[in-house]
Amino acid sequence: MIKKISIDELEQGMEVVELSSEMWKHLPYLYTDPGIIESSEQIATIKKDGYQQVFVKVDNADGQSDEKRLDALLQREDTPLGTVRTPFSEAIQTASVTYESAMSYAMRIVNDAKLGRKIDYESAVETASAIVDSAVSNPDTLICLSKLSSFDNYTYTHCINVAAIAVVFGEFIGMSRDDLILLGMAGMMHDLGKTTVPGPIVNKAGRLTKYEYEEMKRHPAYGCSILSKSTSIPTKVLKAIRLHHEKFNGTGYPDGLKRKDIPAFARILCLADIYDALTSDRCYKNAILPNKALGIMYGMRDQDFDSTEVQLFIKCLGIFPSGSFVRLNTGNYALVFESNPKQPLYPKIRVVMDKQMHPIKAMDIDLANQIPDEFGSVEIMECADPSGYRQNLMEFMTLQ
Ligand SMILES: [Fe+2]
Repeated sequence: MIKKISIDELEQGMEVVELSSEMWKHLPYLYTDPGIIESSEQIATIKKDGYQQVFVKVDNADGQSDEKRLDALLQREDTPLGTVRTPFSEAIQTASVTYESAMSYAMRIVNDAKLGRKIDYESAVETASAIVDSAVSNPDTLICLSKLSSFDNYTYTHCINVAAIAVVFGEFIGMSRDDLILLGMAGMMHDLGKTTVPGPIVNKAGRLTKYEYEEMKRHPAYGCSILSKSTSIPTKVLKAIRLHHEKFNGTGYPDGLKRKDIPAFARILCLADIYDALTSDRCYKNAILPNKALGIMYGMRDQDFDSTEVQLFIKCLGIFPSGSFVRLNTGNYALVFESNPKQPLYPKIRVVMDKQMHPIKAMDIDLANQIPDEFGSVEIMECADPSGYRQNLMEFMTLQ
């Protein structure tokens, strides 16, 4: 399995893993050169160069692979269930309108922040409330939109995706409606402070220098000072924004707080932030498939995240999060539109393309309740990369 460890735990013979994301190479403290660690001298050099963390392959004491462990976790019977949801095909229409108007709001506040104007608090409450309504009605719609929407400006989509994912997770763990609205607001505004950080640093493709990274680390504080101009922003929201880069083991910023001192809102924003960053296309990296991203996040437990919390997060999104593009045993391709917490390997899917990725007449299948034909049952073989298909996948999901 892959695990993120402190550089002090790095030993000769360990294999440094190359993760298929450029996101990590951006960070000056993460060692990313793949290969076996040959000598103690090599470790000493890595330490001397100032690296603090590294992803390595480690053996599990019980010999169980990460995939097996995750499968077992996801199969457990105590999955929270019970809320009656609106069917996806009905809820997606309202959720799309909510997502679109949230996007306009994100554009507005990012602009206001750049121009030093006050942030419109009333609209923040309104927008976050609509996101909460959608999450309660059918959480899959928001998760789907966060991956498949055709908006492609990361600055704005990331604000809204983090809000949507955080709210969906908050709802999953039973947060009150009032708290969910505050969490949604914190999600929308969590990176507003990046408008104060110089553009060349925010958009730099390569590794940041130490100086650039120090400047980048100020964005949570910058965000709070922008928002403090609007007197009505609740303290809970400001705290979540200020602390959304703190980590479980105390290696985060700005205060280096440990798990027990990081507020729940900030811990949730951190999970949603990393998941969306990993699974989004950006100028300097290609998106990681949702199931792979969750596997990487699982390997970050006890370092970045509380182990129980990251497992709950994975459970909330499922093995195949809504919006996942999957290849079937028939060779056709489908989009997952409704996860199945009781049987995570058998979500509801919409078959949309043939083996050659040519669109076909859409057909919905509930994998948990299908009647096998003469060729047997339809099964998901793997998550597939939809980047070769250049059209807007979301159009398939809004078909009636
Ligand atoms: Fe941030």
